[in-house]
Amino acid sequence: MKIALLGYGVVGGGVDRIIAPREDMEVKYVLDLRSFPELGERLVHDFDTIINDPEVDTVAEAMGGLHPAYEFAMAALKAGKNYVTANKHLISHYYQELIEAAKESGACLRCTAAVGGGIPWLVNLARARRVDDIMSIQGIMNGTTNYILDTMLKSPVRFADVLARAQELGYAEADPSADIDGLDIQRKLIISSNVAFDCLLKEEDVPVFGIRNITDGDIRTFTEAGFVCKLVATGLKTADGVSAWVEPTLLSSQDMMSAVPANFNLITYTGEYLGEQSYYGQGAGRFPTAANVVQDCIDILAGERGFYGSAANPVPQGSHAHPYYVRTSAKSEWLDELFDHTLGQGIVTKPVSNLQMHAFMASIAAEDPEAFMAGIR
Ligand code: HSE
Repeated sequence: MKIALLGYGVVGGGVDRIIAPREDMEVKYVLDLRSFPELGERLVHDFDTIINDPEVDTVAEAMGGLHPAYEFAMAALKAGKNYVTANKHLISHYYQELIEAAKESGACLRCTAAVGGGIPWLVNLARARRVDDIMSIQGIMNGTTNYILDTMLKSPVRFADVLARAQELGYAEADPSADIDGLDIQRKLIISSNVAFDCLLKEEDVPVFGIRNITDGDIRTFTEAGFVCKLVATGLKTADGVSAWVEPTLLSSQDMMSAVPANFNLITYTGEYLGEQSYYGQGAGRFPTAANVVQDCIDILAGERGFYGSAANPVPQGSHAHPYYVRTSAKSEWLDELFDHTLGQGIVTKPVSNLQMHAFMASIAAEDPEAFMAGIR
C-alpha cells in the first residue's frame, strides 16, 4: 500500500512513525504547509502531486477541520483512492456525501480513529449491528474534558491551567473550545449514532452543553452529594425517533464512568441480544490515535471496506426526560415550576425533556454567561 499522509502534526507524525518499519505499507508523500527537513523529498505542498500519482492508492488524513479536508477527501475518493481519516468534523458533517462518493468509485472510506482515539469502537459497533439492534450508546468520548474534570475533582486547580496542560500533552484540539464546549464529542456522537442507528444526524439534531462554566464550587457540591460529573454523550432510540445529546452528567460514584481517569474514554453500546458492551482506553493522544489510522489501512489491505449504513435515513428527533442540576442567576418561571430541591449554589429540577432544557440554557446564555447545568442519571 502506498500512502499519502495529509498533515504532519501530532497524529500524522505518529502515523508515519508506526508505518516506518512495516513492509506492507509505505508513506510515499507527506502533505503539510510547514517545512520538515527530516522528510526530505517525501514532503510535498501540493495535493495535485498526490492525486496525479497512480502509485498512491490510499490517502490517510490527520489534518482536521472541514476545509480543505473535504475537497481532498472527495478528490481522492473520486479518483478511486482509499481515504482513511481521524477527522471527526469531516466525517460527521459530510457523512452522506463521502459515503456516496466512496460507494460510487469503489474506494474504501474508514474513520476508526475519529471516535475514541485508539479505541476500536466504531469497528466493533458496526460489527455488533450485524447481529443485533443497538438500543443506545453512551459514554465519555472526549479525553481533554475528562482530563480536566478528573484533575479538578482530585485537586483544586484552575480550569485554565489544567486546559493548558491538556494542550501540552497533545489531547486538546487546535482550538480547545471544540473540546470544552462539547463540539468534539458532539461530532463523535453523530458518527457513532449514524453507525449505531443507521441514521443521518446533523449538528442541529444534537443539543450540546459543555463544561466551560463548571466551577470548583460545583464540583465540591457534587462530591458532597455523592455525584461525579463527567461530560457524557448519549444516543438512544426513543418511541418517537432517535435522541442524541451531549451534556455534563452527574453520575453515582458506583457508575463505571465515574472511575474513568485522565484522558481515558469509556464508551458503551447496548444491544438487544448483547446487552451492554463497553470499550475503555486512550481516547486521545498521538500514538493511540495513529495506531487506529494504521489499523484501518491494514483492514483495507485485508479486503475490508467502510463500515457504514445507508447514510440516507433521517429519523425524527426524539427526546428524553431526566432531572437536571441548574445554576443560574437568570429568573425564569419555567425553571421555578420545575424546582425540586436546592443543591449547593443551584437547584435540582423534576424530570424535564433534554430538548427543552438545552433550549432554555441557550435562551439565558446572554443574560447569564456563567450559567451551568448538568443532567442527573
Ligand atoms: N481533542 C480530542 C479529545 C482528541 O480530547 O478527545 C481525540 O479525538
